[in-house]
Amino acid sequence: MAISALPLSGAGMAQDQLSPPANGQVHPDQWPRVAYPRIVAPEGEARVQDLLSQMTVEQKVGQIIQADIGSVTPEEVCEYHLGSVLNGGNSGPGGNDLAPAPEWLALADAFYTASMECPSGGPAIPIMWGTDAVHGHSNIVGATIFPHNVGLGAARDPDLIERIGRATAIEIRVTGQEWTFAPTVTVPQDYRWGRAYEGYSSDPALVASYVGRMVRGLQGPASTAPILAGPHVAASTKHFLADGATVDGKDQGDAAISELELRLVHGAPYIPAMENGVATVMTSFSSWQGVKISGNKGLVTDILKDRLGFGGLVITDWNAHGQIAGCSNSSCPIAIDAGLDMLMAPDTWRDLYASTLAEVKAGTISMARLDDAVARVLRVKQRLGLFEAGKPSTRPLSGDYDLLGAPEHRAVAREAVRKSLVLLKNTGVLPLKPSARILVAGDGADDIARQSGGWTLSWQGTGLDNSDFPGATSLWRGIERAVSAAGGSAELAPDGAFERRPDAAIVVFGETPYAEFQGDIPSLQLRPELRWPIETMRKLKEAGIPVVAVMITGRPLYVNEALNEADAFVTAWLPGSEGGGVADLLFAGADGNPAYDFQGRLPTAWPATARHDGPTLFPFGYGLTYADGAQSWETLPQDSQVADDGRGNGVYFDKGSVAAPWSLVVSQIDGSDSLRLTTVPATGLSGRATITAADHGVQEGARQFAIEAGPGGGAVEIGNDNPTDLSRETNGDVLLLTTLRIDAPPTAPVSMSLRCGASDCGRPLPIPALATLDRGQWRILGVPLKCFAAAGADMTQITAPFRLTTEGAIGFSLSRVALGSAGEADVVAQCPVR
Ligand code: BGC
Ligand code: BGC
Repeated sequence: MAISALPLSGAGMAQDQLSPPANGQVHPDQWPRVAYPRIVAPEGEARVQDLLSQMTVEQKVGQIIQADIGSVTPEEVCEYHLGSVLNGGNSGPGGNDLAPAPEWLALADAFYTASMECPSGGPAIPIMWGTDAVHGHSNIVGATIFPHNVGLGAARDPDLIERIGRATAIEIRVTGQEWTFAPTVTVPQDYRWGRAYEGYSSDPALVASYVGRMVRGLQGPASTAPILAGPHVAASTKHFLADGATVDGKDQGDAAISELELRLVHGAPYIPAMENGVATVMTSFSSWQGVKISGNKGLVTDILKDRLGFGGLVITDWNAHGQIAGCSNSSCPIAIDAGLDMLMAPDTWRDLYASTLAEVKAGTISMARLDDAVARVLRVKQRLGLFEAGKPSTRPLSGDYDLLGAPEHRAVAREAVRKSLVLLKNTGVLPLKPSARILVAGDGADDIARQSGGWTLSWQGTGLDNSDFPGATSLWRGIERAVSAAGGSAELAPDGAFERRPDAAIVVFGETPYAEFQGDIPSLQLRPELRWPIETMRKLKEAGIPVVAVMITGRPLYVNEALNEADAFVTAWLPGSEGGGVADLLFAGADGNPAYDFQGRLPTAWPATARHDGPTLFPFGYGLTYADGAQSWETLPQDSQVADDGRGNGVYFDKGSVAAPWSLVVSQIDGSDSLRLTTVPATGLSGRATITAADHGVQEGARQFAIEAGPGGGAVEIGNDNPTDLSRETNGDVLLLTTLRIDAPPTAPVSMSLRCGASDCGRPLPIPALATLDRGQWRILGVPLKCFAAAGADMTQITAPFRLTTEGAIGFSLSRVALGSAGEADVVAQCPVR
């Protein structure tokens, strides 16, 4: 059934379908039947059945489990007969996320060999490797990085999408993987969600118009021909279902919507995915009507498999099975019963393997369901042609490293950048004359990681610099090249302080990289520390210099100040490695006419305030062109209409002040003799503690603590009475990052711990690193949240995410306490977690 055959408005729907039924119950007969193409020929099916009949139960259980390359060896792949491995956002060969391409291919060979030359007592089954190639082969240094999906949504070009899919598949094949966890076909409804940029659009029809083309680009046309014989890989549509509908845009939250909306809005992209024979589907971490999707049999089996006809395999997300009521990371028969065919158990696969095997033997998991799951895994492998493909390094395209970031792929990416730019304002300053003197300012101008966003080389896209992107072009470099080729001159000055008076300035500003829940924000505004380039725009304007604002962002945000200050405003989204595509649109050619016109149109509405449910400034589909000519501009009101400061989640203390609703408290270790710090200087611990202001980054950007030894010791804590749930951050390799400076080394061991509401919060973790940090130097200390969990903390009930305790004396200054990733830390505390 074609998408156009679906009634996309509620018209004609029976009233009872509009009222949400409770508890995730589904009505499959209201969903369309889709013809999933034949992807396995009769001989292939015969092989699948034949293999199945020969496999041991141990082999069968192994086939349905996926481990992360950071937590499994090739030997273990053989020993446990694992069906698949993945590389999570922060994993790479030998523990190196930035490992050179040949190491990825060598590791693919090692896993393959382990799966094929394994004395298991059953038939040999080749392993397959899944990777998050979500905007190009984005885990690999040197690969082409395409714009994130939100930008592609602006381009309104399905043909381009297919070409991107194809180029991405080719680059994946170079390093030996067979499977990408893409495309993300989410239909985000609330852009406070940290994953909104992974979706093409908030409009289901626009998303649906891309999905089939992307699946074809990645996999090739749906047929029984082996995928790996062509320049292709298996795709995955994710995250099934309604990941973009969670309440308040909270990642992994609950979609409190009717079945009708579930089907018409969030289900729409799955129709073309099925029609084009997508090989795999990944279920969402999130819930629908309070029930986790990964445990919802009605959705996974009755709708996806039976009604939409899906013939491939369904995989869970990263330890998502552990979030299902009645399950843990190490055991989850419910997910398998619901219809999941493979469990992504990155670091928990060992226990999961053992429990699943026992559950099958005990009959808790039926042999019929296990056989069905295994058959689906084998069918995908058969369709790939994996049984005939040989070692990864012997396959077509493998090891052809020139194809990573190949000029023809970069050209497609640059075209995508050009087509994705959305012009929101132009009072006539654009196009710029390339023969002019151009100043490039703002903090985002020369930063390829920044313009690439999350899911780039590292999970959060953090901890990188331009040297990690060989062959890529920053926005600044692209502008500089365009200008110098035309005889003009360009100067880069982030703070806008120019040496020679420019004819015009380009100010690049916007969001910094984030992924998943770390990017959730309370309201649609730029974090305060990212707003200073707007002041630069104002100063340049005052000096009579025309200003072009270029915004790097994963989502539309309230930026009326910038829209008012700048003479022209371009939204560049997250353009990726080919920053030259921005300059292509900003400058005129020698004849004075622009070589390209803007064609990007908003993939979702742009807000007039920072409220998610507030008025719209520019509607869905808005975007100016050069053909529209210069525009007059009426100054926009500058009122965000929200009370929060836009700091976002996971920042507890910054620049010397605590974020609401947290408090900074000094007390004895047991909590007695406590002082809540409101002003400095202050004295606590009956005179044993002095707290003053110190400078870091900005004036008084830190608090300095001088604590003397004494009865009851000393504790510095950031707390609040309402428990915060940090379990999802803990599952996601998040660290507590403390930016501090040791002023007087500790005289006794120092520990860090958490406070957990009324429940037990485990053992304090000794942090010997604090005694060895260079005195007088600012350092970022990272403590993995997993360490606190391993020490017994109840991560669902955190009332103090930061607690530093010592029996002795210590002097230190604190400027920031926030959640973040390992790449941001200078020192990472070691702890006994597996
Ligand atoms: C994400 C998925 C991703 C997987 C593997 C999960 O946390 O939600 O989108 O494919 O990890 O990295
Ligand atoms: C992994 C990601 C994964 C995330 C789950 C991270 O540690 O690197 O791939 O998506 O955890 O939240």
